[in-house]
Amino acid sequence: MTGAVPVLAIDGPSGSGKGTISRLVAERLGWQLLDSGALYRIVALVGSRAGLPPDDAAGHADVARTLDVRFGSQTDGSEQVLWGPEAEDITALIRTEEAGMGASRVAAIPEVRAALLQRQRDFARAPGLVADGRDMGTVVFPSAVLKIFLTASSEERARRRHKQLKDKGYGGSLADLSREIAERDARDANRPVSPLRAADDALVVDSTPMGIAAVVDHVLALAGSRGVLPRG
Ligand code: C5P
Repeated sequence: MTGAVPVLAIDGPSGSGKGTISRLVAERLGWQLLDSGALYRIVALVGSRAGLPPDDAAGHADVARTLDVRFGSQTDGSEQVLWGPEAEDITALIRTEEAGMGASRVAAIPEVRAALLQRQRDFARAPGLVADGRDMGTVVFPSAVLKIFLTASSEERARRRHKQLKDKGYGGSLADLSREIAERDARDANRPVSPLRAADDALVVDSTPMGIAAVVDHVLALAGSRGVLPRG
């Protein structure tokens, strides 16, 4: 269980800005951060390197159970992901759209989700945790002090994602990416285990017309109304 450590759950579809918003909110609060999507991306990457077929449930569950991964920070504050005994830097490898698709496939395997459940809960350490994902408020941290379901129109999400990936060398078109995002969201929302959905007690934030700073301020204001205040 999460004990007395307060958790702020931020769920939502791909390209809603959850990653950036969660990191900035965690920074402002001085809280830990859980990027749960990275765990699924890493399982998919490590599984594919081991030659596992995408639907190999037992094989991927094994990968998830024994995942040797460490999260750190780059000099610009963004996340760094180190894997294995040699601490291989796999940050860029897990951020591709292909890795996102692979993650979405292994994330539909119930044994993989079960294997990652406690690992995710272990991120809840004082003074608090901002947890970013698809099922943070519904399954992993049902007693979170605040649950946000962050969304944006599908056009805006594809546009944001395209900009983000282009900066990292993605060569596909906006139309290709829109299709891929729609496919990923449909799989995430329609899988039988832990589908992407807002918890009943989540507050829905539509960020379509908002910039990053405005969303961060809005989330912090909502957190403040639950007694969670920025540090300093
Ligand atoms: O958030 P991100 O795009 O990194 O997530 C990659 C994929 O991992 C998602 O499309 C989803 O299938 C899966 N995921 C999940 N549950 C989470 C976080 C991510 O199923 N809590």
